[in-house]
Amino acid sequence: MKNTFNPWEVKGDIDYTKLVRDFGVSELKTLPDLFNKEILFRRKIVFAHRDLQRILDSIKNKKKFVMMTGLMPTGKFHLGHAVVAKQFLIYQKLGAKIYIAVADIEAYNARGQSLEESRKIALEEYITNYIALGLSPKNVEIYFQSDRSKDAKKSNAYYSLQNILARHGTFSEFKAVYGDINPGKMISSLLQASDMLHPQLPEFENFCPVVVPVGIDQDPHLRLARDLSKRIPIKFTQLSSTYHLMLPGLKGAKSKMSSSDPNSFIALTDNKKQVKNKINKYAFSGGQDTLEKHKKLGGNPDIDVSFQYLRMLLEEDDNKLKEIENSYRSGKLTTGELKKYTIDKLNTFLEKHQKEREKAKKKIKDFVHK
Ligand code: TRP
Repeated sequence: MKNTFNPWEVKGDIDYTKLVRDFGVSELKTLPDLFNKEILFRRKIVFAHRDLQRILDSIKNKKKFVMMTGLMPTGKFHLGHAVVAKQFLIYQKLGAKIYIAVADIEAYNARGQSLEESRKIALEEYITNYIALGLSPKNVEIYFQSDRSKDAKKSNAYYSLQNILARHGTFSEFKAVYGDINPGKMISSLLQASDMLHPQLPEFENFCPVVVPVGIDQDPHLRLARDLSKRIPIKFTQLSSTYHLMLPGLKGAKSKMSSSDPNSFIALTDNKKQVKNKINKYAFSGGQDTLEKHKKLGGNPDIDVSFQYLRMLLEEDDNKLKEIENSYRSGKLTTGELKKYTIDKLNTFLEKHQKEREKAKKKIKDFVHK
């Protein structure tokens, strides 16, 4: 399979060390305790950043800041999406105002999906799951790229910003950042730049720090927005961003969980049987091919997808995780046992989550178009 890595398509193995170097992002070093309470930060699942210090300062000095990110509403909401959603909750707790863009224009330009379909998927899949995971309606703005606001002043400001940004970009700059680019994708990039920058306009929150948590595939959009924002006649606080590892797909620890490949993901609506079947049948194992060899040589948790799900999402207890890791490496814990533990953890989480989803359905109106 050919490897592809750009903001619209990720296929094949991901080499994070190379990406950090090529993109020029900084590795995330020591963070305040507030962050380290969360496994995503403590375990370096969020592993790199640009200008995060500005956000840390805002938190310390109790100054206003915004967390802004977006989603392309295609297909099922899966475990990979939960990695991003958990960061909304963390920043919400830290006092951020939360902005979430439903990238329906981008889904149309990059995937040919209609605005109606995007709206339906965004409401039934993404937003319902965010609420079920614990997002509170306080200080949250969720909007559609095609329908920014019922308030014309706000809408005009958001779309005008996209045009002002376009006026100051050059074609060679787009080619340098994206390589392969077409007018539809260009428009999406500029709209995403407006997504990230518009919270600082006077019609919204005014000049203030904004942190954008994304998968590292989205960094080209940040580079473009950061560069353009320095050249336009409106003054912005430079954008901050953080980058998380992509949750692996079932097929391999270096791949990406993707809703376009049904055998790669576990959806938050999957039932117990589906989860059991997917993990047992598809989850790539770091174990040896025979039990005898496994007992002798041990397994490799680094490439074991079940172990990675425990590390990145499911096992909060560091001691327990370490114990599983050591026992698997030594060959004492078998692949079958590791998979069973993962299936049980997943199904416990999903059972609770699916109950929350039912309650969440009634709350959607509190989140969209206030
Ligand atoms: N391009 C993002 C994706 O494919 C979605 C997106 C739209 C976004 N606007 C954004 C992400 C602003 C971060 C910030 O998932």
